[in-house]
Amino acid sequence: MPNLRDILPVGSSVLREESEEITAFDGELHSLLDEMGSILYAEEGRAGLAAPQIGILKRVIVINGDQGYLELVNPTIIEKKGFISDYEGCLSLPGYYGEVTRFDFVKVEYFTREGKKTTIKARDFTSRCLQHEIDHLNGILYIDHIRKGRLFNDRNDKKSDLKELLKLSGK
Ligand code: CO
Repeated sequence: MPNLRDILPVGSSVLREESEEITAFDGELHSLLDEMGSILYAEEGRAGLAAPQIGILKRVIVINGDQGYLELVNPTIIEKKGFISDYEGCLSLPGYYGEVTRFDFVKVEYFTREGKKTTIKARDFTSRCLQHEIDHLNGILYIDHIRKGRLFNDRNDKKSDLKELLKLSGK
């Protein structure tokens, strides 16, 4: 696919905005999903992408986790259980990773690209990805959840300045 959109970096105001629900499951949505899939697969190790990260304020996410490649339109967490802490990063915050506590289990209701309502249950990595990407649809970044400054530079594993990054992010 030609001319894939760039992933917007932290500091872009669109990353702090709320996305709108999809109401038409048409060619425009399919093109958006196709482009998001191409961006996710453009580099190895990309786990998820939310539409606002490419400047589109729509409630659309794609995920590549231990349940394979998933497209979720208008996703909502309808069940959650337990808590688990682990490290995560974000394509909009290259160079950083941080420790975030999230729900261990989630059940998410969403629509397919054809507009069929369905659900997915997830634990571990996929559960974390779902929560991270759904946060993007509400203008929330993982750095908003980090406690005790547990944000690190991924080159040297040294602590990074969380307050400064939050300020840059528009928080
Ligand atoms: Co992210």
